[in-house]
Amino acid sequence: MDPHAEGAPLNPAPPPPGAAPALHRVFYVSRCRASTTELDVRRLFDSSLRNNRERAITGVLVHTGGHFAQVIEGPAPAVLSTMAVIEADTRHEAVARLLQGRLHRRQFNRWSVRWQAAPGADDLLAAVLQEPVVPPARAHRLLRTLFVEPPGAGAPDQASFNGARNS
Ligand SMILES: Cc1cc2nc3c(=O)[nH]c(=O)nc-3n(C[C@H](O)[C@H](O)[C@H](O)COP(=O)(O)O)c2cc1C
Repeated sequence: MDPHAEGAPLNPAPPPPGAAPALHRVFYVSRCRASTTELDVRRLFDSSLRNNRERAITGVLVHTGGHFAQVIEGPAPAVLSTMAVIEADTRHEAVARLLQGRLHRRQFNRWSVRWQAAPGADDLLAAVLQEPVVPPARAHRLLRTLFVEPPGAGAPDQASFNGARNS
């Protein structure tokens, strides 16, 4: 079985009683609204940190200035309900899910939401949002390009807002 297989149904059947819910991942990109301020971004990060910890969600959020890219991973019901809230958030628009589906194991298990500023990736994300279809292979490449674990395992992420690393 491919541990990173995509394409599980958006509303998977509930797990049998006693079983841990399946892990789910969504990777999306979006455009930051022109009216969104630095303070807005700071606030959304703070609520993400609090909520994701409570819901056993982990992941990473990239802000390029003009765009966002985020991976959220965790129990399927928590990820899907959080994604519905994120998509309705007026601080961004044109939310495009590039990958979604079951995950064998977490890729960002040290972070409830790791913050990453990446101003150099703004054009790249603008171009991705112009594409009518982003094939999964390209989405996986983009994911690897954007979300690089900081060097030095165990070191706190210097770029994190108030140290979002999981304990
Ligand atoms: C780009 C972006 C990413 C977000 N990521 C998350 C997230 O990972 N988790 C989360 O709970 N809310 C996230 N939010 C914020 C939600 O849309 C919403 O404002 C928040 O969950 C409300 O939480 P509260 O009711 O505790 O204030 C994000 C919003 C934006 C614009």
